[in-house]
Amino acid sequence: MRHIPVLLNEVLEGLNLKPGIKAVDCTLGDAGHAEAILNQIGTTGKLLGIDADPESLLRAKRNLYNFADQSIFVRDNFVHLKQILEKNNFTPVQAILLDLGWSTPQFKERGRGFSFEGDEPLDMRYGDEIRNTKSEIRNTTAANILNEYTAAELNKIFHQYGEEKFSQEIASAIVEARRIKPLERTGELVEIILQVYRNKLHSTKEIPWIGGIHPATKIFQALRIEVNQELEVLKQVLPQALEALSVGGRLAVITFHSLEDRIVKQYFQTVQNKIIKLINKKPIIASEEELKNNPSSRSAKLRVVERI
Ligand SMILES: C[S@@+](CC[C@H](N)C(=O)[O-])C[C@H]1O[C@@H](n2cnc3c(N)ncnc32)[C@H](O)[C@@H]1O
Repeated sequence: MRHIPVLLNEVLEGLNLKPGIKAVDCTLGDAGHAEAILNQIGTTGKLLGIDADPESLLRAKRNLYNFADQSIFVRDNFVHLKQILEKNNFTPVQAILLDLGWSTPQFKERGRGFSFEGDEPLDMRYGDEIRNTKSEIRNTTAANILNEYTAAELNKIFHQYGEEKFSQEIASAIVEARRIKPLERTGELVEIILQVYRNKLHSTKEIPWIGGIHPATKIFQALRIEVNQELEVLKQVLPQALEALSVGGRLAVITFHSLEDRIVKQYFQTVQNKIIKLINKKPIIASEEELKNNPSSRSAKLRVVERI
């Protein structure tokens, strides 16, 4: 199933696209946004698309087959945006999009460990190899984190990145479980989390749902953020994106949780009226209609700024 691009019309309008411009999609995914951007910038426009996940990049290339002459595809972490644009002689640009997080096929794909629904290896990397912010190869998987971090370190990431209320109890239960056998599968982690929830809530239900949310949601989010250093790469890409824009060029950022949105909001505040102006003061969220058709747009927030 192809990922449905979120806030699509709002992104197109926000980026103020014109025929013939150069645009960058830092998070190609299934290329839904990229395809719409290409349609608007016409046959003389050019798009450079980045994705760290080789399988996403393959899907994007397939979906943009008709635009092959106008597109450049780069498999890399967007934290290297400046270098990527220089290498491809692609500056200055007039529009940049960051649609953070993960696409539907990535969650559904077997074997990556993103979903708590199946039983898969605890991996959670974008690709089989990712580079850290210093360009060193970082091959830490979710299993490495769960088996090697101390209880205090686990508690910290579950608390900070997952805002998980039972972070301490879950961290202790993980340390306890790995004394017997290292954690290898998502199913093992899910069972530990569920057991903590059952104990804390005195529940006998197999899955003690919390307001329609699976109890493992926050821990999986925290692990993904830690494995891929998602907050750190976001902090580093924002100044690079603004630097690459020509005057009047626009940057649109879609975030999916408050930790990301806070980073974007605070960074824009620090450079507001110095190198950018805000196009929308409050983040744009999905309309009722979009929410009905695509529930994953529920937590999306879009912020757009213009280079001055
Ligand atoms: C939400 S999806 C993008 C969906 C896309 N806009 C569409 O319309 O199909 C985010 C994509 O960004 C990629 N990604 C996330 N973090 C990345 C990073 N730091 N560097 C490069 N790609 C990243 C993921 O692999 C994923 O394919």
